[in-house]
Amino acid sequence: MMIAEKMVRGRKVEILILLQLLVSAMVATVAYGANVTYDHRALVVDGKRRVLISGSIHYPRSTPEMWPDLVQKSKDGGLDVIETYVFWNVHEPEKNQYNFEGRYDLVKFVKLVAEAGLYVHLRIGPYVCAEWNYGGFPLWLHFIPGIKFRTDNEPFRAEMQRFTAKIVDMMKQEKLYSSQGGPIILSQIENEYGNIDSAYGLAGKNYMKWSASMAVSLDTGVPWVMCQQADAPDPIINTCNGFYCDQFTPNSNKKPKMWTENWSGWFSSFGEPLPYRPVEDLAFAVARFFQRGGTFQNYYMYHGGTNFGRSTGGPFITTSYDYDAPIDEYGLLRQPKWGHLRDLHKAIKLCEDALVATDPTITSLGSNLEASVYKTASGSCAAFLANIGTHSDATVAFNGNTYHLPAWSVSILPDCKNVVFNTAKINSATESETFARQSLKPDADSSGDLGSQWSYIKEPVGISKAGAFVKPGLLEQINTTADKSDYLWYSLSMDIKGDEPFLDDGSKSVLHIESLGHVLHVFINGELAGSATGKPRVSLAIPISLVPGKNTIALLSVTVGLQNYGAFFDLTGAGITGPVILKNGNSGSTIDLSSKQWTYQVGLKGEDTGLSTGDSSEWVSESPLPTKQPLIWYKTTFDAPAGSDPVAIDFTGAGKGMAWVNGESIGRFWPTNIARDSGCTDSCDYRGSYRSNKCLKNCGKPSQSL
Ligand code: GAL
Repeated sequence: MMIAEKMVRGRKVEILILLQLLVSAMVATVAYGANVTYDHRALVVDGKRRVLISGSIHYPRSTPEMWPDLVQKSKDGGLDVIETYVFWNVHEPEKNQYNFEGRYDLVKFVKLVAEAGLYVHLRIGPYVCAEWNYGGFPLWLHFIPGIKFRTDNEPFRAEMQRFTAKIVDMMKQEKLYSSQGGPIILSQIENEYGNIDSAYGLAGKNYMKWSASMAVSLDTGVPWVMCQQADAPDPIINTCNGFYCDQFTPNSNKKPKMWTENWSGWFSSFGEPLPYRPVEDLAFAVARFFQRGGTFQNYYMYHGGTNFGRSTGGPFITTSYDYDAPIDEYGLLRQPKWGHLRDLHKAIKLCEDALVATDPTITSLGSNLEASVYKTASGSCAAFLANIGTHSDATVAFNGNTYHLPAWSVSILPDCKNVVFNTAKINSATESETFARQSLKPDADSSGDLGSQWSYIKEPVGISKAGAFVKPGLLEQINTTADKSDYLWYSLSMDIKGDEPFLDDGSKSVLHIESLGHVLHVFINGELAGSATGKPRVSLAIPISLVPGKNTIALLSVTVGLQNYGAFFDLTGAGITGPVILKNGNSGSTIDLSSKQWTYQVGLKGEDTGLSTGDSSEWVSESPLPTKQPLIWYKTTFDAPAGSDPVAIDFTGAGKGMAWVNGESIGRFWPTNIARDSGCTDSCDYRGSYRSNKCLKNCGKPSQSL
């Protein structure tokens, strides 16, 4: 069932099914009970320095049914560690009311990773950024009197400590820390605070130090990290995030060089092309990191997944969090990315003993050419040869042999002699799995038809439900809705007398509206008069027609994911904060409507009457269905495709809205939001520094249609 604003319901709403069979086999369980410490070279697990390859999988971004297969594919891809954030707002949607069920079953997720024999890095945050609604903070936090987020503020510290301790206690009770025999070898407190702490001045520094000591006091028995926090106090390890971290050095020679976020691609936004990161460059970045002394590297993301429901941050971040990751949104291997990285991991693991034994000896082999050699006391040797030039391939002499090095590549020599892997040479499979289609069209006659009985209910325009209230002036949206819904109605009735200038030529009256976003729809006397979207502001000026007597201006303001990043991100407002001004083009008369008595309604009627779960007797079945309608709900039923393969719905032909399957929101859709039609290439040159807008695809197409 779907709800849509301005939705042109699909002639082409189709359900897609994957034909390939997904095999999920669990492999032998590994025993833990490890003591985890660190020194200047590496994390030390049970007395042994380790080279660890890690990948991010955020448990609420897939279903528990998918988890075993995702973890197995991670293991097969050569990962040792699964990293996840902990998402406070899904676990504590109301203060002191916790939810650890279904997709939020953190304990189950951690146990599944353990069963596969992998370690866990638990990044508690509890600020997580992550393109997650409000950076992971529950909205109720904002309403605590006197609270200021992420700074030296007593109410905030109390809540942050309470939640962090709750998670730590939960993990301890289940014996999930490595020190207790569990898989968790590492934890993170805060997230990239160092990128923005200067905005908080001295209070920010105090908060950072408090966070560190609060975390340490929770006594997990495993190390804590802070990412992008150059001044992280001992014993917290400061770690690097970025597209490259080979130049990073930790803030003490007692700490290992660790990379907590190697961005395997990038997130996507509605209305933008899709970023992708060529695997040759990703592999190059990883190899360079290990070449220059790194011993722990995490892919952010290894599997990105889906921002179900209203979980996406923003504004405007897509429901898909595919991220161009090695495992795609649906849990399918993305090739050649997954395979090439698996080959890279094997090569790095062949070097592990030498890598952890010493710091590298780095020598220049010429301009842009570099060799690193690692040697153990017993004489085993591993080498990395790099050409960091962006254009010219090179031939280098090393240890009495010659080696060909393509531009922007690293060769790995686990015995200092034979090249087992070069980051620019792909030998793995190149074909990814794809979807097969089955129709959900009402008029489909093919035998692949999955369902056809569609019905609809029109959502009323303007104020329609109990609980509406009147306030003078224009209210900021998030403070008004507490983010219980994307939708807030602002409605105003006004009497226009027969002699007022706004009537002398209706088409010359213009309504000016200033909003903080994210989407605005204007209805005059029940009819849609105009729409706009934008950030950080929406400005709209539309000609309107008024009638003598009573007129209703109903403005629907819609959020599309709350801000998740930046200093004071939590204070970013939304909605129609004004001014709202009516102007007459001929006479120049204006009326400022901003401070009038506006009537407010939080959410849509259908959201309250349970339309999102499908229970209503008011559904109308009619053929053909009304299309190109603002504000309408549609529903259909169909037999689920057989098997357990991933299923997606193609929303091509729909407008903007949200979709539920069996009562569960699968997220927002907006296929009419088309990416610009230039600046994309399918064959991006991997050579040279990558940035998130370097390699784009899908120009001129919907940013997301599945
Ligand atoms: C980092 C942040 C992550 C994520 C990433 C971009 O700065 O730590 O949570 O937001 O950027 O995907």
